[in-house]
Amino acid sequence: MKLARMSAYVLLLAPLATPAAAIAANRSDASALLKRGRYLVVIGGCNDCHTPGYAESGGHVPERDWLTGSRLGWHGPWGTSYPPNLRLFMQGRTRVQWIKFAHSARLRPPMPSWALHTLTDRDLSAIYAFIRHLGPRGHKAPDFIAPGQAPPEPYVSWPGPPHKATQ
Ligand code: HEC
Repeated sequence: MKLARMSAYVLLLAPLATPAAAIAANRSDASALLKRGRYLVVIGGCNDCHTPGYAESGGHVPERDWLTGSRLGWHGPWGTSYPPNLRLFMQGRTRVQWIKFAHSARLRPPMPSWALHTLTDRDLSAIYAFIRHLGPRGHKAPDFIAPGQAPPEPYVSWPGPPHKATQ
């Protein structure tokens, strides 16, 4: 009799326990995804160009300022490019749009577009989750400057490709 009553309680409580367990599992999935995204951003070198002062300070920039874009121009035969603010870039995009962009983007040097093409959908989703989690911050980076025009300081001057005869 006692046992029967107990199992009735278990049956009644079981449906209540499931959502809590599911929420906890979702939470730990989400935090694993964020950790993976942070890890990929760090080892992928994204901060080196997209975070002001990051490479110069040996990575000593607080996480809240990561990926806010840079005013340091990259000047070469293609013109002068500026690493955009990825915190703003991600806000306007869905995860699916980001994955599509990353698979096909042909960006100017020195952006390693091939690194984006190589990332799996899962890793791209992790990067997306991490940058969205950081939230919008900072301003738009300067616009691209066409080849042949002198950019304002500061900029890095990139050498042209080696001359054919020396290859
Ligand atoms: C060596 C410097 C450098 C590194 C490292 C780098 N980027 Fe970039 N990135 C740039 C530059 C410069 C541009 C602008 C290219 C252009 O004008 O077409 C850019 C453009 C982009 C864009 C396009 C944004 C837009 O507004 O169109 C995305 C997205 C991006 N980078 C993501 C990343 C991610 C993610 C990583 C790390 C895996 C990374 N970048 C690493 C320099 C870099």
